[in-house]
Amino acid sequence: MIRIALLGAGLIGREHADLMASHPDIAIAAICDPSPEAAKLAERLSVPYRSDYVAMLDELRPDGAIIALPNQLHAPAALACIERGIACLIEKPIAESIASAARIVEASERTGVPVLVGHQRRHSPDIRAAKQAIAAGELGDIVAVNGMTLFDKPANYFDVAWRKSAGGGVLLINLIHDIDILRHLVGEIDSIRAFTSHARGFAVEDGASLSIRFANGALGSFIISDNAVSPWAWEYSSGQALYHPTQPGPCLFLAGRKAALSVSDMYLWRHERDDEHWQHPLARHYRGAAGLPTYVAQLTHFAAVVRREQQPLITARDGMATLAATLAVDLAAREDRTVTLAEMLVQGGAAP
Ligand SMILES: NC(=O)c1ccc[n+]([C@@H]2O[C@H](COP(=O)([O-])OP(=O)(O)OC[C@H]3O[C@@H](n4cnc5c(N)ncnc54)[C@H](O)[C@@H]3O)[C@@H](O)[C@H]2O)c1
Repeated sequence: MIRIALLGAGLIGREHADLMASHPDIAIAAICDPSPEAAKLAERLSVPYRSDYVAMLDELRPDGAIIALPNQLHAPAALACIERGIACLIEKPIAESIASAARIVEASERTGVPVLVGHQRRHSPDIRAAKQAIAAGELGDIVAVNGMTLFDKPANYFDVAWRKSAGGGVLLINLIHDIDILRHLVGEIDSIRAFTSHARGFAVEDGASLSIRFANGALGSFIISDNAVSPWAWEYSSGQALYHPTQPGPCLFLAGRKAALSVSDMYLWRHERDDEHWQHPLARHYRGAAGLPTYVAQLTHFAAVVRREQQPLITARDGMATLAATLAVDLAAREDRTVTLAEMLVQGGAAP
């Protein structure tokens, strides 16, 4: 059994607690959160409860920690873990700024203490199958990608003040997951142009359209809104999200020199003979694969990272690049220009 502490038992922290409680290889070292609800959760699960995470790390010396705190606390909590040799899973975004993310990257790389960033979609069966098909060369070089995240958040979602101000909008809450998957499947992002929308009238954005150039030459476009009714979002199509119904279908389209793939319905479209082209019908093949549910797979991977048996699938450096590319969307829209990932990293205080 490995002993993992939970830092922050709010909306997503509670899910991590329940997942850990039912995982055969994991014991919850402590639930650490000053809120009365967290104390009740620890009581329900019969695990130690603490309110101060620094004191808890020194006292209980867990093998690993899941950091599900508000964004601005990710860096101090991660540094406290890394200094003590404790591997951590940091919820997304890795930090509230590139400068804070860079401090986590520096500490993790200097000490060799592993950090896994909680971009859980990479552990999802559909994304794993897509990654496998791409790695096996089934699509050939990827030329173009097009994706959508379009769903309707209810009005009372915005009753909480921070959701209406900078950092609380659809870019850092939702688009960051799409950006992470685009980087994972297609390759590193070179540069971005974007428009954002403010249809609800809040200071914070509720939608964005992106034009993306990848370092390998592929081009991408992506559209996101939390103010539109549609079934086209990974949350629905994958059947893997925690709080959403399953609506089977596609949300992401990848086209390569040899074949095309749609995610999450996992159809691969290709010619059957090398001499065929746009005037010949395409054959459709199913490329779906079964696998552990996304959050269980993420936790199982984290347990292997804690034991130093696997390298993190999303390192701190990787998480920082996903954050930088997501923040680039906001800058590109505000300044109405092309923004490069390298520029974001350098200006944010990180080496590209
Ligand atoms: N991967 C995902 O799907 C996903 C989903 C939701 C949230 N998140 C991320 O998880 C993080 C937490 O989000 P949330 O929605 O659960 O927030 P939340 O506000 O519901 O929970 C945060 C918790 O942290 C506790 N806390 C605050 N300061 C603390 C401190 N100093 N020590 C210990 N506990 C403290 C609060 O009491 C609260 O219970 C955020 O970074 C968010 O972006 C990720």
